Amino acid sequence: MGKSRRYRLRLDEVKVQAFQARLLAWFRRNGRDLPWRRTRDPYKILVSEVMLQQTQVERVREYYERFVQEYPTVQDLAAARPARVRESWEGLGYYARARNLHAAARTIERRHGGKVPRRLEEVLALPGVGRYTAGAVLSFAYGEPAPILDTNVRRVLSRIFASRRAASPAGGERRLWALAEAVIPAGKAWAFNQALMDFGATVCTARNPGCSTCPMRRLCAYYAGAAS
Ligand code: ADE
Repeated sequence: MGKSRRYRLRLDEVKVQAFQARLLAWFRRNGRDLPWRRTRDPYKILVSEVMLQQTQVERVREYYERFVQEYPTVQDLAAARPARVRESWEGLGYYARARNLHAAARTIERRHGGKVPRRLEEVLALPGVGRYTAGAVLSFAYGEPAPILDTNVRRVLSRIFASRRAASPAGGERRLWALAEAVIPAGKAWAFNQALMDFGATVCTARNPGCSTCPMRRLCAYYAGAAS
């Protein structure tokens, strides 16, 4: 995908496969049941990911349900008055998100025949959609092997696949995007990316990570360092 394709990663395939298998197995047992995981409607997934950009999962739950009830389709949102959309967003904060989402719905209506586009460049061109949200929409709505990298995912991948270069901001960032793409197992982008998020949010946390019961610990560079 774009730049990351050109980044040359040296990865241990056996380790990558073990990581994929363990993470997916962990997710089957421990994955969270969240309302936006019960749909494959690209529009609803876009709504949820925009809400999740700056708001905690628990808070998004109630707003997401209400919002998609009020605007069940991209057409409904596109046709709504700005003042009403703002009202529906009341309480979630960062109102630029609501304005952008509204503008995105209108762009989707006008330029994409009412369907959330499936090509990365087109998703990225929607207002308020950055690389992370684009990856989330593509992998969750369409099962595309598009990488996601937020704070949680960044931490998980850095710990497990630590490298010295990751310490430099620029090299680290490019490497991490390339890594986030390279580790997605074929045909499993949806579960794998959701799993990465949950694992980072609940086990591989910033403070007091759950290493003692972590299924990844024998693969993990951070654990090896911390244990020695
Ligand atoms: N944060 C951003 N996207 C998310 C998702 N799909 N599930 C849980 N947390 C998230």
